[in-house]
Amino acid sequence: MPRCLVARRLHFNAAHRLHNPDRSEEWNRDTFGPCNNPHYHGHNYELDVIVEGDIDAETGYVLDVGVLKRIVEEAVIQQLDHRNLNLEVPWFRDHIPTAENIAVFIWDLLAPRIPSGRLQRIRVWETPRNYVDYEGA
Ligand code: NI
Repeated sequence: MPRCLVARRLHFNAAHRLHNPDRSEEWNRDTFGPCNNPHYHGHNYELDVIVEGDIDAETGYVLDVGVLKRIVEEAVIQQLDHRNLNLEVPWFRDHIPTAENIAVFIWDLLAPRIPSGRLQRIRVWETPRNYVDYEGA
């Protein structure tokens, strides 16, 4: 069976602050720069969800991207969009909300929910120039 990668791009806005409470204010400013702003700041995130699988002989799909879109919206976008990640998403109380950690968070939500094929990669775009890829632990 031929195998393909199928991807869907989704969008969310969120605010965050990069700050490690175990380190000094100075260390945090040096390490995170403007992303350490105590008043938070926002990003327009793009999220690519990439699924790998065999092409189904009956449908010609690996999976229906409309179904994938609904799953990502319900499991991820509703939790993150227009949120302050530090204050409103409990997982980020213990994890600094970098794009790296956002990718891990999203992976763990989505990997068990993919109905056919398997989650191959999560790509989180924090700016049009910076992205992080995560392919699972
Ligand atoms: Ni930032």
